[in-house]
Amino acid sequence: MTAQTHAPAMPHYTETDHAVWAELVRQQLAQIEQRACREFVAGWRRLALDPQQLPDPAAVGEHLMALSGWSLGDAQNAYLEADEWFAHLARRRFPVTNYIRPPERLEFTPLPDLFHEYFGHLAFFTDRRFGDIAQAFGPLYQAAGERQRLEIARLWWFTTEFGIIREDGALKAFGAGLYSSPGELAKAFAPNTPRVPFDIDQVVATAGAKYDMHDTYFIIDDVEQIATILRDYARRERLPEPHI
Ligand SMILES: [Fe+2]
Repeated sequence: MTAQTHAPAMPHYTETDHAVWAELVRQQLAQIEQRACREFVAGWRRLALDPQQLPDPAAVGEHLMALSGWSLGDAQNAYLEADEWFAHLARRRFPVTNYIRPPERLEFTPLPDLFHEYFGHLAFFTDRRFGDIAQAFGPLYQAAGERQRLEIARLWWFTTEFGIIREDGALKAFGAGLYSSPGELAKAFAPNTPRVPFDIDQVVATAGAKYDMHDTYFIIDDVEQIATILRDYARRERLPEPHI
């Protein structure tokens, strides 16, 4: 493992960008108080980002490397192609953009932005065990055929992006998309929203909603269940057993 982070250079953040970040962090920390899972709470503390100022990717990359052996990668201001995404994961590299939503669209952004990545995802990547499981998606995807690749992307999507996790009998937010979208967090826990136990067959048959909110959310019992899901999927699809 090299200490090089491949992180993007310090982006040219504007004052408006910093203000959007500060406002979103303030709003979401308050909104998730009842919904944040313990992995997020502990991870956010370890990540130790400035709630007022957007982070310097190089500094965050070095910090993550020391904590969990992950670093940051450079992403364009759009969705990465799935092939690129999983190649980054395989190399223990989390891709980040330099874009943050405009102030008039705080509720929901169709593109993953800085708030989604730094606030939604990175707390989880401070944990080495979660990092190991996330990394295992990479080689599994790369060993897979076309249908399987789509299915593995959905396994990722409905756990790390939009999953719900059980914690001491309560349901908590797990997916980064729930942490970074005030609107989607509310939808995921609304009384009439279907929330069902994670089931591989059902998940691989469910398309992710990239530009809209989801209809159904899937519940995992704990982080280790994601490792079990990957092992079960590999076994049934006769793919190489993930080393996790
Ligand atoms: Fe994401």
